[in-house]
Amino acid sequence: MNKAKRAAVIAGNWKMNKSRAEAKALVEELRPLVENAGCGVVVCTPYLDIETAVKAAEGSNIKVGAQNCHWADHGAFTGEIPAEMLREAGAEYVIIGHSERRQYFGETDETVNKRTRAALDAGLRVILCCGELLGERQQNIMEEVVGRQIKVALLGVSKEEMKNIIIAYEPVWAIGTGVTATADQAEEACAFIRGLIAKLYGKETAEATTVQYGGSMNAKNAGELLSKEDVDGGLIGGASLKAPDFAAIVAAAGK
Ligand code: 13P
Repeated sequence: MNKAKRAAVIAGNWKMNKSRAEAKALVEELRPLVENAGCGVVVCTPYLDIETAVKAAEGSNIKVGAQNCHWADHGAFTGEIPAEMLREAGAEYVIIGHSERRQYFGETDETVNKRTRAALDAGLRVILCCGELLGERQQNIMEEVVGRQIKVALLGVSKEEMKNIIIAYEPVWAIGTGVTATADQAEEACAFIRGLIAKLYGKETAEATTVQYGGSMNAKNAGELLSKEDVDGGLIGGASLKAPDFAAIVAAAGK
């Protein structure tokens, strides 16, 4: 496996934070701090911030994403947003299957698959999330859980379309808890995911696929996590809300 063959991507998941004015200010502050980034830089904002963030990022290396999309292109789905509307607003990325969607909004592997398909069909790049609960790790079934999540999410996704898929390994016990997976735990899971992609799509696709780690990644621990062979970037929650902290992680990924 060769890390140089794939792009490192640091993506911020702002979750349900930042007003439009705050979104504009954060992207403007971030621009000069990441302009020489040696990796991809993405901010995934609340829906209503997307256009503001796109405008503030214009002419920079910062890409904008959403945090979810529906699988239908239109229809009677009150409160939902189709992938095409995200595209129209200027989003290039979308996070699908985040554990908070699974935990609080009834997201299942099957709906993650449908949303992934719709996002790809609309021309979005997907940051596909997977990760085990604490109890599942304690029972030693991380591979079974993550393996099923990924296999189901990727049903009907072609080898060609894998170019537009980033996989984010986010152990649920490490999200927003301040408990980070050790670099070895992150590497073990990311390497397992790459091995699974190799089984599904072949070695070449596996080597070209970006696999991120997420879960309490911050300016202090990013360097060690990102030094691992199979950890190609990060999906950052809390630390993406402050420009200097997020920029420090971007700098660590560019090394
Ligand atoms: P934290 O970085 O706040 O732990 O959140 C991680 C995450 O859920 C990113 O999607």
